[in-house]
Amino acid sequence: MLLHMFYFFFFIPCVLFVVLPQPLVVDGLREIRTKQPHFDESPTYLWPLPAEFTSGDEVFTVDPSLELVVDGAGGASDIVREAFERYRKIIFEHSGSDYVAGRFRFKRVLRESIISEYDVSQLKITVHSDNEELQFGVDESYTLLVSAGEVTIEANTVYGALRGIETFSQLCSFDYATKTVQIHKAPWVIHDQPRFAYRGLMLDTARHYLPVGVIKQIIDSMSYAKFNVLHWHIVDKESFPLEVPSYPNLWNGSYSKSERYTVEDAYEIVNFAKMRGINVMAEVDVPGHSESWGVGYPDLWPSPTCKEPLDVSKDFTFDVISGILTGLRQIFPFELFHLGGDEVDTKCWSQTPHVQQWLQDNNLTPTDAYGYFVVKAQEIALSENWSPVNWQEAFQAFPYNLSPQTIVHNWVGPGLCPYAVAEGYRCIFSNQKVWYLDHVNVTWDEVYTAEPLEGIYDPSQQKLVIGGEVCMWGEHVDTSDIQQTIWPRAAAAAERLWSPRESTLKANIATTTLPRLLNFRCLLNRRGVAAAPVKNLQARQAPDSAGSCYDQ
Ligand SMILES: *[C@@H]1O[C@H](CO)[C@@H](O)[C@H](O)[C@H]1NC(C)=O
Ligand SMILES: *[C@@H]1O[C@H](CO)[C@@H](O)[C@H](O)[C@H]1NC(C)=O
Repeated sequence: MLLHMFYFFFFIPCVLFVVLPQPLVVDGLREIRTKQPHFDESPTYLWPLPAEFTSGDEVFTVDPSLELVVDGAGGASDIVREAFERYRKIIFEHSGSDYVAGRFRFKRVLRESIISEYDVSQLKITVHSDNEELQFGVDESYTLLVSAGEVTIEANTVYGALRGIETFSQLCSFDYATKTVQIHKAPWVIHDQPRFAYRGLMLDTARHYLPVGVIKQIIDSMSYAKFNVLHWHIVDKESFPLEVPSYPNLWNGSYSKSERYTVEDAYEIVNFAKMRGINVMAEVDVPGHSESWGVGYPDLWPSPTCKEPLDVSKDFTFDVISGILTGLRQIFPFELFHLGGDEVDTKCWSQTPHVQQWLQDNNLTPTDAYGYFVVKAQEIALSENWSPVNWQEAFQAFPYNLSPQTIVHNWVGPGLCPYAVAEGYRCIFSNQKVWYLDHVNVTWDEVYTAEPLEGIYDPSQQKLVIGGEVCMWGEHVDTSDIQQTIWPRAAAAAERLWSPRESTLKANIATTTLPRLLNFRCLLNRRGVAAAPVKNLQARQAPDSAGSCYDQ
């Protein structure tokens, strides 16, 4: 106790003496800059790496009342303005309060002496087009110039502007010595655009229900890594949480009355995502993975004891699919729609007498009937003006029957896209060995080095690989652990899909990529995303021991 008193009375004044005078003798930010070598731990790491950029060696300060100035036909968009407000909160996280207890005087002094000395007080955003349709392949390119007095983002679409604002936010960092937001390594010239048009994350709301607010948080976090597609695996064998107005008993197959999505919820999610430049691709997986449909409509089961795949022999089955798709078309404007088609075990068809009879009458084997089902579902999707996406099994079972508009979704392993594009189909890469996030023992570097174009050398075939997607299957995740299972590993795929192949290929993973990813994970944490330690051997584990965010 005595010792504590001693420390208290003796050391505290010393600490005050040492710490306080230092800022008080400084007459402006520039002085602080030159006198204190800054601690360059994080400010200039970008993720994903832009296509082209150059930087300098100056430090610019950013005015906490940074002003948005817009130009061009699309500049006045709500999408731009709302993004600016979101990012203002992120960038000026530490500058929001006027009250700083014992340092009140210090703050006042600083304010009065430097208020007009910020290097950057305007963010000028020019958007050339006023077309806000978030189509597949929408132009996401932008140019970001950071020079003294001016930061400009120029883009053809509002979605390019969003990507530019994200990059701008990553250039900004809070300097604790001067209590200002700074941009290091200025001036910057960044010309950026994505490598692939489709950069997805899949969420599965059938194995565990995810509340709407949690889906929104995940969408927010996706935009930080420049993902642009949320693949929403809405329903599956275990549950059917979605409201379908034309078949109102379908969501009787939800886990409970509250674990459901109204059509308004779905619409809200799509809009929320659009404001962040993210398309939502819905999935209704047929004919397998469908047992839950029959809770509300038992006629969809081949029999009460053999419940999937959906009964191929009945018109009612296709009426229901048609009703679902017509309803969903009003909500999901994205031109891709996922029809599943994976892991179809036809045993219930060959073992159920009335289906067996139907197969015989139509001279079909169970495998033929699987093909018939997939093609018929595709026709419904095509009639709704959707391009159908199917898991790879459909392509493998009948590569010549599918619509030429089909996009084959690889998952089982590597090497499938080369076959699909050789047949002229488009392909999405999701090799489960590296890009299934539920495989928690896959480390970030294995995610990072996966290459969607592996084994494809013909440039015209390479173009058919529209991108890739990491999949967060839901058996072992719910609200309690989903963010840390997704992040930071999803970010590794995000960079692979955004940045030029040459820059990710030649990167030295340990010395250049890892520090940037460590930094990005801390950025996610600062923004409230529960991203797990980067160096985990098992995803989503807690840190091993005490230590800095930048080193775990
Ligand atoms: C589905 O739910 C509705 C509303 O709760 C109920 O009226 C109906 O009987 C249920 N149908 C089946 C087949 O469970
Ligand atoms: C990761 O888990 C999978 C599935 O449990 C297993 O097959 C594989 O061997 C594991 N790999 C490593 C490196 O532990």
